Amino acid sequence: MSLPSPVSQSFLARSLHLGTAILRLLPAELAHDVGLWLLERQILNSLPLPRLEPLLDGMACTLPGIGDLAHPIGLGAGFDKNARAPQGFARMGLSFLEIGTITPRPQPGNPKPRLFRLDDQLGLINRMGFNSYGAVNVAERLRRLQWSHTPVPLGINLGKNKDTTTEAAIEDYSYGIETLGPYAKYFVINVSSPNTEGLRGLANEGFLKEVALRHRADLSKLWVKLDPDMPKKSFQLLVEALSKLGFQGLILTNTHRVDSPQKGGMSGHPLAIQATACLEWAYEVVGESLPLIASGGILSGQDVYQRIARGASAVQIYSSLVYRGPLAVYAMLEELRNEMDLRGYKFLSDVKGSYYKKD
Ligand SMILES: Cc1cc2nc3c(=O)[nH]c(=O)nc-3n(C[C@H](O)[C@H](O)[C@H](O)COP(=O)(O)O)c2cc1C
Repeated sequence: MSLPSPVSQSFLARSLHLGTAILRLLPAELAHDVGLWLLERQILNSLPLPRLEPLLDGMACTLPGIGDLAHPIGLGAGFDKNARAPQGFARMGLSFLEIGTITPRPQPGNPKPRLFRLDDQLGLINRMGFNSYGAVNVAERLRRLQWSHTPVPLGINLGKNKDTTTEAAIEDYSYGIETLGPYAKYFVINVSSPNTEGLRGLANEGFLKEVALRHRADLSKLWVKLDPDMPKKSFQLLVEALSKLGFQGLILTNTHRVDSPQKGGMSGHPLAIQATACLEWAYEVVGESLPLIASGGILSGQDVYQRIARGASAVQIYSSLVYRGPLAVYAMLEELRNEMDLRGYKFLSDVKGSYYKKD
C-alpha cells in the first residue's frame, strides 16, 4: 500500500505497529474498546512520538465555518462516539475531530457481535446501531473538557434514537443541536448510517429543508453526511438541493450497505471506489461552491491526494487508524508529500480540484 518511510521505520513506530497487530488478535469491538481505553488514559502522552511539524510544510487547508487546519486529515465519526478521548486523537496528529453519532437519549445499540474486520481487504463491517451515552451525558463530558477548537476543531455528529419515528426525527436532531451547541465547532446531520431503520429515508430534500429552516441561525455550522448507495441522478439532485438550502458542506461518504459476509455498513478499502465516485458526482454539481469532506477508503497518502485532487477540502479517516495504528497520520502525511513532490506541487491548495483541470 505504501513505501516504507522514515517514520514507519523507527523503533517506536515498529513497537506501535506491533501493539496494533496484537490488538488485531482480539475480536474487533474488544480491540476498539481497549484502544479507546488506552487513549482515554493518555497512553500516547508518555511516548516520544515524532514531531508533526516537519511534515506540515505546504499542507495547510481551510474548512469554511470550521477553520484553518494544519493539514487535511481528520477523524471520522464513530471512533469516539461519546467524546471519551479527544485528547488522544489530537495527539495522534489528526487536524480536526468528529465525535458521535450522538442520539438524544442514551441507547445501547445493536446486540454484539456488531463489528467485523476484513483484514485481507483492509475493510470493516459494522452494525453498531448508534450505541450512545446520549446528548446530555456527552454535553457534560464536553463541558468538563473545555475544548478550545484551536488548533484542533471538534465537530459533533448527530442522529436519531432507534425508537424515534421518522415523523418525529426532526426533534431528535434539534435536541442534539440545542443541547450540544456550545461545544461544537460544527455539526453533522447524519442521514446516512445503514444500521438505524428509517435513517437513510431522511436523506431527502423535504426533511433537510425542515432542518435548514428550523436552524437558519446555525446553518453555517451544519454539514450533512450522505451515503454512497444512491443512484447518481438522485444523489446529484440532493446535493444541488442541499447546496441551495445553505448547508455549510457535505461529508462524502458514510459506509456502503452490505448483507454479506455480515449485515451492516462497509468501511475501508472496499468502499473507496464508491465513495470516490460520489465525490466526483458532487463536484460535478457544486464545484468549488460547496465544501466537501471526503470519507471512505482513505488509508494512504495516495488516497488523500486523489480525494483532494477530486475537489475535497479535507478528508476523514477511520479504518486507516485500525489498520495502520497511532502513527497513521504521520505515515499518510509523508506519503502525501511524496505524491505532491512527484507532480511538482508544493502546496496542497494547488492540488485541490486539479483532477478536473484540462491542460
Ligand atoms: C465501527 C464504525 C462505527 C461507525 N460509526 C459511525 C457513526 O456513528 N456515525 C457516522 O456518521 N459514521 C460512522 N462510521 C462511518 C465512518 O465515520 C466513515 O464514514 C466510514 O468508516 C468510512 O471511512 P473509512 O473507510 O476511513 O473507515 C462508523 C464506521 C465504523 C467502522
